[in-house]
Amino acid sequence: MCGILGYAGSSDILSVLVSGLERLSYRGYDSSGIAIISDDELCHWKSEGKTHLLVERHLKNLRIENFSVGIAHTRWATHGAPNDLNAHPQLSMNRKTAIVHNGIVENFAEIKSKLQLSTTFHSETDTEVIVQLIEHFASKEEFSFREALCLALKQIEGNCSFTVITEHDPKVIYAVKKGQPLIIGLGKNENFIASDMNAILPYTKRYLNIQDGEIAMVRQDGYEIIDFDGKPVAKKSHVPSEISGTLEQANKGSYKHYMLKEIDEQPEVLARLLHAYAGDGKQLDFMPALNSKNLNLAKLERFIIYACGTSWHAGLVAKYWIEEYVHVPAEVDISSEYRYRKGVSRRQDGVLALSQSGETADTLAGVQLSKEQGAAKVISFINRENSAMEKHSDGVIRSLAGMEIGVASTKNYLAQLLSLYLFTLHMARLKKTMSAKELARRLDELAVLPSLVRKFLLNKAAIQKIAKKYSSYKGFFFIGRGLSFPTALEGALKLKEIAYLYAVGYPAGELKHGPIALVDEKMPVVTIMPESDTYNKMMNNLEEVKARKGKIIAIATEGDERALAAADDCIFVPRVRSYLSPLVTVLPLQLLAYYTADILGRDVDQPKNLAKSVTVE
Ligand code: G6P
Repeated sequence: MCGILGYAGSSDILSVLVSGLERLSYRGYDSSGIAIISDDELCHWKSEGKTHLLVERHLKNLRIENFSVGIAHTRWATHGAPNDLNAHPQLSMNRKTAIVHNGIVENFAEIKSKLQLSTTFHSETDTEVIVQLIEHFASKEEFSFREALCLALKQIEGNCSFTVITEHDPKVIYAVKKGQPLIIGLGKNENFIASDMNAILPYTKRYLNIQDGEIAMVRQDGYEIIDFDGKPVAKKSHVPSEISGTLEQANKGSYKHYMLKEIDEQPEVLARLLHAYAGDGKQLDFMPALNSKNLNLAKLERFIIYACGTSWHAGLVAKYWIEEYVHVPAEVDISSEYRYRKGVSRRQDGVLALSQSGETADTLAGVQLSKEQGAAKVISFINRENSAMEKHSDGVIRSLAGMEIGVASTKNYLAQLLSLYLFTLHMARLKKTMSAKELARRLDELAVLPSLVRKFLLNKAAIQKIAKKYSSYKGFFFIGRGLSFPTALEGALKLKEIAYLYAVGYPAGELKHGPIALVDEKMPVVTIMPESDTYNKMMNNLEEVKARKGKIIAIATEGDERALAAADDCIFVPRVRSYLSPLVTVLPLQLLAYYTADILGRDVDQPKNLAKSVTVE
């Protein structure tokens, strides 16, 4: 979602801010903008669309002299259309103060209606309300800018982090953390504010987390942190950290899109996970993520799993595994439902929160809620480091998928699946629901998984051809049973997300209870039918679709002559045990969506209206 960057230093400020915007762009956005204080005066530029438009329309050939601080923003519209007026920075009426913001001001309408008596508003955003309110106090002589900011914060409700620069105090960036992530980047004779470490990586790896309820005041030569009452926060409570190792830079290499690169990285991700968590198939060891924390997992009597989007589909698969192999019930919720449905979590419940980013607002709220309700332990499955969710969890299992840039998640999904499967085996061992021999066999068989996936991904041409054949169709069904049902949901979601085609995932047995009314020669149906106990049932569903002239694209186990003969098109996936099938059946669906989107000329990596980390409700 919205990306925030601030810079206080003497390097070329425009290139620092523009290159930072480009590194934030993977989050998904619809407009961008920059504000700088130069010669103690505020100047700003903004544009709807991608950052290159901001540069072409305003920044090309621009030279900024005598600057002190600057802020920049990528916006994902919540209040007001994605246009120039609503893009950030938003300015106060007297144009002395500028803000960039991530989150939602819940009571913005109320504040706006009071301010409107004396203030003219120019945008439809809730953001403008914050800056007008701050300036309302700052322009009174009795308040310093810092006091004005604190007074404004007393009125603002909702999760919203923001960054402000002002002519009242031209050498400082004010950064307010209230929910959404913000860090201070500590450089040599320069400092930064960022919503995401990625924005500042070329300049520094040293950073400091700003905590909720804090305001950081950042200058070129240092920083100070106060609370919302204006009282200093002791520096010793903020110890700078350093990002370890070499962080990956976003780099497509020879690939046309990050998504395709990330699909191709999947064998490597699986191998990395097996190495880290299963001793390359020889031991099942989640150390130190779980064992060191005295989590008492053997005592858990139920699992509650929640997540959003693709991560939710991984949770649905995990339910099948956990119930079958650990013999405890597992409930799966969409985070935005879980947090409001007044469910109960008790001391015997283990909560599994799944999130690539660790920032998704609804999943994070679920984690906080589960803790309040007294769930025994909250274990988060997260890919990114240093996320808000991580801080609230009792244990974290890292997906180790590496930086995922494509908005539509691919490699992290596979990583989540494998982590959840390994977690299931770990639980089965603790609960003694699986014999040591069976456990060893299962670990052993995983060793070939990376090479099976690698081999499959070498033959993409056939899938590209199928994508071309069906790219003019307007609607698709995806059906599957058991473990293939979540895969059907995931295949449909991928097609919606990046190809903008109508696609619905259904449990195959449910087709005849309504959706089959839509099946005709214009409605291709993707049947996910690997070898399994329900294979014959899937075959029946396939025939039902055929009888209504529906076109069939079957995803089946290699060598399945029946599926090959019955379907219009058939994509074979590697032969694995049926319980591992979700790790291979999703591969052709990722590629089908990718190639369809590419053929249709869609913006594959940053599809319209979507964001990589959804940090607002
Ligand atoms: C957004 C992304 C999806 C992702 C979902 C959950 O909607 O576009 O690709 O699956 O958020 O994200 P999380 O980071 O919590 O897994």
